[in-house]
Amino acid sequence: MTSETHYERFTSPGEDNKLQSFVHSTRGKIILTTVVLGVVGLVAGLIIRQGVSSSEPRHAQALTGDKVAPQPTSIEPTTWTPSPTTAQLKSHTSSPTSHEPATTSKPSSTTKAPTPAPTPSPIYGKINDNTPGTSGQTTNPKTFPNRGCKLPNYLSENGHLYAQAPNGTKIPIFIKGINWFGMETELNIPFGLWANPDNGTSLYEIVAFLSRHRFNSVRLPLTVDSLIKNTPPNPNVVNAYESPALNLTTYMSAVQSLVVAMGSKGISVLLDIHYLSDTDKGDAWYSVEHPASMTLNAIDILTINLCSDTYWNVIGIDLTNEPWNTTWGDNGAKDFRIGAALLGNRMLANCPSWLAFIEGNAQTHTITINGTVFDYYDWWGGGL
Ligand SMILES: *[C@@H]1O[C@H](CO)[C@@H](O)[C@H](O)[C@H]1NC(C)=O
Ligand SMILES: *[C@@H]1O[C@H](CO)[C@@H](O)[C@H](O)[C@H]1NC(C)=O
Ligand SMILES: *[C@@H]1O[C@H](CO)[C@@H](O)[C@H](O)[C@H]1NC(C)=O
Ligand SMILES: *[C@@H]1O[C@H](CO)[C@@H](O)[C@H](O)[C@H]1NC(C)=O
Ligand SMILES: *[C@@H]1O[C@H](CO)[C@@H](O)[C@H](O)[C@H]1NC(C)=O
Repeated sequence: MTSETHYERFTSPGEDNKLQSFVHSTRGKIILTTVVLGVVGLVAGLIIRQGVSSSEPRHAQALTGDKVAPQPTSIEPTTWTPSPTTAQLKSHTSSPTSHEPATTSKPSSTTKAPTPAPTPSPIYGKINDNTPGTSGQTTNPKTFPNRGCKLPNYLSENGHLYAQAPNGTKIPIFIKGINWFGMETELNIPFGLWANPDNGTSLYEIVAFLSRHRFNSVRLPLTVDSLIKNTPPNPNVVNAYESPALNLTTYMSAVQSLVVAMGSKGISVLLDIHYLSDTDKGDAWYSVEHPASMTLNAIDILTINLCSDTYWNVIGIDLTNEPWNTTWGDNGAKDFRIGAALLGNRMLANCPSWLAFIEGNAQTHTITINGTVFDYYDWWGGGL
């Protein structure tokens, strides 16, 4: 293993990568350095057997003047069209309103989807990984077992990660992780949970799949805007019957229930401030529409709601996804050395147990080889 922090990638060789850096907070705690390998969503590689290339087109690199400039996004979610899947889904997770008289105006959005008359068989969403699956699965659980863990002090020391118990014992952590995209889009929920007879899966199966393949960490892309507004997920892309433990009431309840589900199998979660909003990717940790105060607010929302023993498996926050057109150490307006310290210290103020993950600025460079000038770029998240 070349790195203790390794978020697995499932996609093409052209996919974005990220480098590592060190930042020291004023508290003297090393803010984590990491390699976060970029991924087109977990769904692309894992969940949907037929592939989702049409749903996750990547930006080509765009020409700006005579140079090729990197684009900030890994995926373009706005083209996602759930209609066929949603139609399938509705056939067995009837909307509560469909059972009410047309004249009834009382909203019943919190009503559980009724159980289909015949128990679905087989269970939808088994990931076709040439294993018999997880033994004992008869249906998807309404709750995931609480392992009774305490939130440890997650540490980064000398290039290694540790979980430290209150008595001082440190256990090294090695990460094999994935990105699970979706919550950073207008759907506000990870992709793939629409289990139907043809594709999609359930929260239980995702957790079971990751566990049986020894993945032990999930990076969860989020947006500042959805955290602040606590935007409820789009329920039409979730088969609530197959994932009853997923709480779709609010953005935060969805995150919390995902974290608990992962924790049941000892899988950690890295909260990723991926975009400022689903339409404002941002080059830095703020933009004109989303000032830094909003990002700080989003960090407070994460620490207030998730820094506790119930969510012991949250290891920290990736403070800004793939900064670009930023600088490092020039004291300018977009100096991410200042930005990372600002965000990281805000997190540590309310949750000293978490780690801050810092990505590097992606820049364009030139090199002259045998008299010819070539452009090249940092990896996404690299450039430190
Ligand atoms: C998933 O299944 C639905 C319903 O059968 C189908 O319309 C859709 O194209 C499938 N999606 C993918 C990505 O295979
Ligand atoms: C310290 O705490 C850990 C976690 O509770 C425990 O496994 C370990 O045995 C303890 N070590 C000592 C020396 O008490
Ligand atoms: C779902 O989340 C909401 C909002 O946090 C909470 O009020 C509700 O109790 C949760 N439901 C369950 C079943 O935990
Ligand atoms: C990069 O940032 C500078 C300073 O904030 C800004 O003027 C410029 O428009 C940005 N460039 C791009 C390509 O967004
Ligand atoms: C540079 O030119 C020399 C001499 O023609 C050649 O041997 C070498 O392979 C060239 N290097 C590159 C990187 O093209």
